[in-house]
Amino acid sequence: MAAAYPYTGHIIDHAEISEEVCIGSGGFGVVYKASHKIFGDVAVKRIFKDLEISIRDRQILEDEAQKLTQIRSPYVVLLYGVVMHPCNYSLVLEYMCYGTLREYQLKYDVNWSTIEELVRHVILGIHYLHVTAKIVHRDVKIGNILVGKGPTAKVSDFGLSEWHEYSRMVSENCRASSESVTVGTTTHIPPECFMDINRKADTKFDVYSFGITIWEIVTKKRPYINAKPDVIPFAVINNQRPDENEIPHDCPVFLTNMMKECWNGDPKRRPTFKEMLDRITEKRHAVTVCDEVQVRCLNETTNYSFCFQSPKSHKIKEI
Ligand SMILES: Nc1ncnc2c1ncn2[C@@H]1O[C@H](COP(=O)(O)OP(=O)(O)OP(=O)(O)O)[C@@H](O)[C@H]1O
Ligand SMILES: [Mg+2]
Repeated sequence: MAAAYPYTGHIIDHAEISEEVCIGSGGFGVVYKASHKIFGDVAVKRIFKDLEISIRDRQILEDEAQKLTQIRSPYVVLLYGVVMHPCNYSLVLEYMCYGTLREYQLKYDVNWSTIEELVRHVILGIHYLHVTAKIVHRDVKIGNILVGKGPTAKVSDFGLSEWHEYSRMVSENCRASSESVTVGTTTHIPPECFMDINRKADTKFDVYSFGITIWEIVTKKRPYINAKPDVIPFAVINNQRPDENEIPHDCPVFLTNMMKECWNGDPKRRPTFKEMLDRITEKRHAVTVCDEVQVRCLNETTNYSFCFQSPKSHKIKEI
């Protein structure tokens, strides 16, 4: 068996993975938490099983996986490698202890400054994919943002079009999951892709999806829950978007503005992730400067009030 499936860095021997516990399932298979001999805790996403595939197809899947294992960013979920055994075709990923951002928000009371920080991580992650890795994600949504210690948010489930395509071609009986397979999520697809069915997803596709994702984050809801799925493309082409009345009153204006700019019907008017990054960095800098000024004022005021204490009382009156 070892000779047939040589270890080439991105191929992982399934015998090295143990203690699998099911933690969820999605469009492409069941996800397990497991332990790897070297990597420790990992998430194993079983794509399909019990299938012999041609050498050519195997090579295509391997090449794609190998390319993705090179992608390294603190804001992108790491793909350690893939298991490619006839009874087990799986992706072995970095384990993110809090699950998706949706799951994290449902479990914990997450304040706005943490939300802003997690949004910044996502911007950094997608900016890296676009600029350094030259990849369009094509499925940006709250369920593909995972949260780990820190908390730190990372983007996952990108660039696996060959795996997804193969999974789509495999008959329902052979696939590990019985759910239907779609690339991209209807609620997050921009209008220009509904208008031109042959249009290739570009970086502005991800920007639009990110706008819908910000709405999902700030409202903690799913978009268009009252609409039938086949109505969504027409409504989106006609400039309808997720319900703004659901946005909480205390949501930072900064996030609301960014969300609306991202889901602009005209892709050219949507910001790039670099522009969003610059803006969020500027905002953080402004907050830091503001904090420093406040601390300085507080110190000065404290000294000032100290001067006016009666000589008998040396107690500092803090303001
Ligand atoms: N790397 C990971 N670390 C920890 N948990 C994960 C990881 N990847 C997925 N999960 C868990 O598995 C569940 C299913 O994830 P999956 O990505 O398969 O589903 P999905 O995002 O809903 O669908 P899809 O990505 O196929 O469109 C998630 O809800 C999450 O709880
Ligand atoms: Mg996913």
